[in-house]
Amino acid sequence: MKIVMSTFLVTMIMIISAFICNNRSLAESDAPHKQIADLNMKKVERGRYLSIISGCNDCHTSGFLLSNGNVPEDKWLTGDSFGWRGPWGTTYASNLRIIVNQMTQEQFVDYAKTLKRRPPMPWYSLNIMTNEDLESIYQFIRYLGPAGEPAPAYLSPDQEPTTPYALFPTPPEKGN
Ligand code: HEC
Repeated sequence: MKIVMSTFLVTMIMIISAFICNNRSLAESDAPHKQIADLNMKKVERGRYLSIISGCNDCHTSGFLLSNGNVPEDKWLTGDSFGWRGPWGTTYASNLRIIVNQMTQEQFVDYAKTLKRRPPMPWYSLNIMTNEDLESIYQFIRYLGPAGEPAPAYLSPDQEPTTPYALFPTPPEKGN
């Protein structure tokens, strides 16, 4: 009787632990969605909305502007190799999916409030966003997960870009 009971117990333990392990491996294989557990879906939604209406996608999503916003969401905010050339040199909209996914929400809010970059990045708009809006943008980018390659590096004014670019005229001297 003792042997039968302990065999029964061992079998039960094996079944239960197999069930737990199986659940864990399911959760781990579900990689991009694994993060959703600690996300607030209301903020994710607002972040999606803000990334459209405040123009982040226009520059940070390749082809967004010229396709009237018709780019699949999994490509959003992965940066662009289209250059913006002007008196500041040539800049490329960064891959926010790589950069932001390396930060905590707190780090992102601090970074966005003090960020200063070259044109045409409207960094001053990020600086004055409310914490709630910045948290929403952060949560949306976490929801999308890391993807893509880093954007090409900044070029100084004397360097010729090898990518397509838009040329901004040098503003006239003051007093003209
Ligand atoms: C008109 C184009 C444009 C728009 C609109 C725009 N960006 Fe940018 N962004 C850029 C460019 C170009 C750079 C790179 C600037 C540089 O190299 O100095 C940049 C850089 C950044 C960086 C710095 C990344 C790093 O390298 O640390 C962040 C963060 C960022 N943008 C977030 C946003 C967010 C969020 C929005 C929407 C609210 C937005 N941008 C809207 C063009 C744009």
